[in-house]
Amino acid sequence: MQRIIVYDIVQRFLACLKPMSLIEFIAKQLRKPSGWFGRQITARLLNRLNEPVNTLTLDLLAVQPADRILEVGFGGAALLGRIAARATDGLVVGVDFAPEMVDRGAARYRALVEAGRVAFRCANAEALPYPDGHFTKACTVNTIYFWENPPVVLGEFRRVLVEGGVLLVGFSPKNEMKDRPFAGHGFTLYDEESVRQLMQAAGFSAVQIVPGQAGKRAFSCAVGTKGESTGTNSGKTERRSFRNKRVRGRT
Ligand SMILES: C[S@@+](CC[C@H](N)C(=O)[O-])C[C@H]1O[C@@H](n2cnc3c(N)ncnc32)[C@H](O)[C@@H]1O
Repeated sequence: MQRIIVYDIVQRFLACLKPMSLIEFIAKQLRKPSGWFGRQITARLLNRLNEPVNTLTLDLLAVQPADRILEVGFGGAALLGRIAARATDGLVVGVDFAPEMVDRGAARYRALVEAGRVAFRCANAEALPYPDGHFTKACTVNTIYFWENPPVVLGEFRRVLVEGGVLLVGFSPKNEMKDRPFAGHGFTLYDEESVRQLMQAAGFSAVQIVPGQAGKRAFSCAVGTKGESTGTNSGKTERRSFRNKRVRGRT
């Protein structure tokens, strides 16, 4: 019986591969998990491998019970569940452009969806299906590499946030990603300073870059506030003020 299941999994995997290479297949799954493989394998792997950057993001979100929080590109939705556990009187919305991730998330958190505490929408980050000022906080982890138009996406995040709302963008910086084989297939890589500048240009103020580390893996979370930009922040100052926030997670 077990042998039949393993055979079935291998067959499905091989069917997914044709005619692209394994690396291309992985890159495609990371950009937009799809099909049986996306639902059963990619979503689980994302939750496991990205746990450290998700934990850093969750800590920085400082979720309050009544927060209304948007997560874009939630993938396997582990972070979304942890946010929902803290936003007990609020709302957590997950937006992802992969229908498989939306269906999976809605099934996984059915009780919270029915209670009206969690909602899922299938949409592109470039056109968020929510009115202006709908959320107190927003976050997105490991999606920036796939944005076709970063100013438009960041503009959408800004639009749906309340005045004073915060945006968190978790990512692995260019020097960390550049040697990963899949990063050459459809990924745009950024260093911390580029992300900070993009967020400032989109109207986020007091943008800070918080570094994290899990074993040899380094990652960062950019944090910005919707509000008037002072234009006085330098990357150096921001890093110093968060020196003690370096987190360690699983390898
Ligand atoms: C690499 S996965 C990251 C998932 C999760 N945030 C994590 O870190 O484990 C990227 C996710 O973002 C979604 N995504 C990528 N680009 C998107 C876009 N433009 N709009 C909405 N979702 C997007 C993908 O479907 C996928 O679920």
